[in-house]
Amino acid sequence: MKNNNINLEELLKSLTIEEKIGQLLQLAPFLFNDNNKGEITGPMKDMGIGSKEINLAGSVLGISGAKEMKEIQSQYLAKHDKKIPLLFMADVIHGYRTIYPIPLALGCSWDIDMAEESARVAAKEAAAGGIHVTFSPMVDLVRDPRWGRVMESTGEDPYLNGLYARAFVRGYQGNLTNDDNIAACVKHFAAYGAAEGGRDYNTVDMSERTLREYYLPAYKAAVDEGARMLMTSFNVVDGVPSSGNEWLMRDLLRDEWNFDGVVISDWGAVAELIPHGVAEDGKEAAEKALKAGVDIEMMTTHYVHHLKELIELGKIDESLLDESVLRILQLKKDLGLFENPFRGADEELEAKLILCDEHRESVRRAAEKSMVLLKNEGVLPLSKDVKKVAVVGPFADNQMILGGWAWQGKFEETVTLKEGLINKLGEDRVLVAKGCDSELPERVKTAMSEEGFEEAIRIAKEAEVVILALGEHFDLSGEGGCRTNIKLPNVQEKLAREILALNKPTAVVLFNGRPLDITELSNEATDILEAWYPGTEGGNAVANVLFGDANPQGRLTMAFPYSVGQVPVYYNCLNTGRPKMKEYGELHTFGEDRYCSHYLDAPNAPLYPFGYGLSYTTFKYGEATINKDSMTMEEKLTVKVTVKNEGKVAGTETVQFYIRDISGSVSRPLKELKGFKQVTLAAGQETEVEFEINEEMLRFNTLRNGFASEKGKFIAMVGPNSKEVQELEFELI
Ligand code: BGC
Repeated sequence: MKNNNINLEELLKSLTIEEKIGQLLQLAPFLFNDNNKGEITGPMKDMGIGSKEINLAGSVLGISGAKEMKEIQSQYLAKHDKKIPLLFMADVIHGYRTIYPIPLALGCSWDIDMAEESARVAAKEAAAGGIHVTFSPMVDLVRDPRWGRVMESTGEDPYLNGLYARAFVRGYQGNLTNDDNIAACVKHFAAYGAAEGGRDYNTVDMSERTLREYYLPAYKAAVDEGARMLMTSFNVVDGVPSSGNEWLMRDLLRDEWNFDGVVISDWGAVAELIPHGVAEDGKEAAEKALKAGVDIEMMTTHYVHHLKELIELGKIDESLLDESVLRILQLKKDLGLFENPFRGADEELEAKLILCDEHRESVRRAAEKSMVLLKNEGVLPLSKDVKKVAVVGPFADNQMILGGWAWQGKFEETVTLKEGLINKLGEDRVLVAKGCDSELPERVKTAMSEEGFEEAIRIAKEAEVVILALGEHFDLSGEGGCRTNIKLPNVQEKLAREILALNKPTAVVLFNGRPLDITELSNEATDILEAWYPGTEGGNAVANVLFGDANPQGRLTMAFPYSVGQVPVYYNCLNTGRPKMKEYGELHTFGEDRYCSHYLDAPNAPLYPFGYGLSYTTFKYGEATINKDSMTMEEKLTVKVTVKNEGKVAGTETVQFYIRDISGSVSRPLKELKGFKQVTLAAGQETEVEFEINEEMLRFNTLRNGFASEKGKFIAMVGPNSKEVQELEFELI
């Protein structure tokens, strides 16, 4: 922490009640400089504040660059009696200006160090841009691809999400002392990812058992790693919206988890206590939020309008306000803002860092590692001797491949697939036609036009191989980007059918923010590469993967459903009392095993399960072994398996390790990820991979005993994904 001498208790004592309340208010920058550059993600009602309140606000949301930050900070300090600097926060989600693949893609890399590096790079650029806190990592566990915000999560697994949560916090914060570290704000607490029907902001309802076992661990991991801030979620938790939920925010977060950082409401979430139906008006909303321990109110002004009166009426003890102010001041002090209110902000450095070669190289590598090869039956990798490639589809030459949360990212700085291919092959060998637009909800009519099909088909016929670049417009995912139909837009499906009907060697590349329903496409296409929104260097990264300069190694961290009707479909589900005993995923016919848990018209299994992904080489697993078939609470067991690269090129395999508890005081999932190892093997190379089993790994949220292990039988599983595993029994005695 910065060693500055300011005495915060003294400072607090010197503040008027208005100055204290001001610290709890966060506003967008345009309110300070009349220059509407702020990102508005929620309703902006008339806030009923004037320059007096604005000049006392404690923090700013979303400035664009060092210059603006310096201007706002110096104007503000000139007017602020006590000279308490503003804290600048922003949504730096997957890169600042040099944009990484979306978090769901980074998740699929299973490369925790890479994730940390992404946060490190983002922090460097953002800090130079004058930002002190990022609203990241978003660690909400996700099981429903209809929800647009799955793109911001690392996936469906609590263990993996926890590892990523920690890595992002480390990457952003470092030790917080350097000027290029920024504070991390973990969000959205809690269980925002479980919105009913996958509809944003919708009700969440689950048992405390499920909450604690699946949804909370990643937030807890971020808190344990030292995240300095936490954001409430929009949803209710056990009937009470997070921003007014004392059990969640005080009993659990502060008392049980010992979190002493700053809690911020999500955008407008204090005001939303009213439509949620737990507060009659702004005054009651303010009372509930402060009592729940929400320190900063983002973009609404109920604290400013009502806290003073609530304190005077004796409804709120002033000590609650003081606690919140102290936490905010502490963060400002730890960031060194009292020493240097312009900490880190540096136009020259900012210009030097953004899009520098090193950062571009890092985002490209991350994109390569996060793509998932879903199908590979002969077309990929492409040969560089190819005479003509036709790249067809709305993402053939489209710079909108940054995803919905790239805030400072610029489309015009983004490498398209066409450019990536030209960089590799030269202009003469690349033919391009978009065929149709990527659909936007409000532009459905123009987007549905098939006028471009003819040209697309013509160049496809002329070329030796075709790359079909399809996907979702970025507005179809992200916040407010929920869909009940998670297929590709109709016009793209039609284009795909017509191109595939030509029977040319064709590889499909997908650019999208969620697992899609691509069951039909995967029946028709031989080769499918999921590229997600790959970021600034997207086109180069995809070209490298298509031509085998990078061997795909991503593994899904969220299943692709067979159809949307299966959702939620996730690997660590319970068995039910009537499990479907036939082979995993087999389609049942009417009458056969009718009274088991299944659908009449679809398999239980997703199209592509958690952990799944192919490579241009093949990895052969030897027979897995376990050193003993039982262990005491103190003992450890070892599972070993050899993995051989049997193909012709080097590749990276993610060897996955799962455990199932056969019987417990509560029903246990079919499998839970407990470890993984990434091994890079040259062609023909073999290695032995080892996993240790210890008692701690066997703990779960028991019926009456909290998190503990229970004696009995278990199955250890090892394999290339959550479906294809070898099983080894053991017992805890
Ligand atoms: C989102 C948050 C984001 C905030 C500030 C909200 O609408 O839910 O994730 O950090 O806006 O932009």
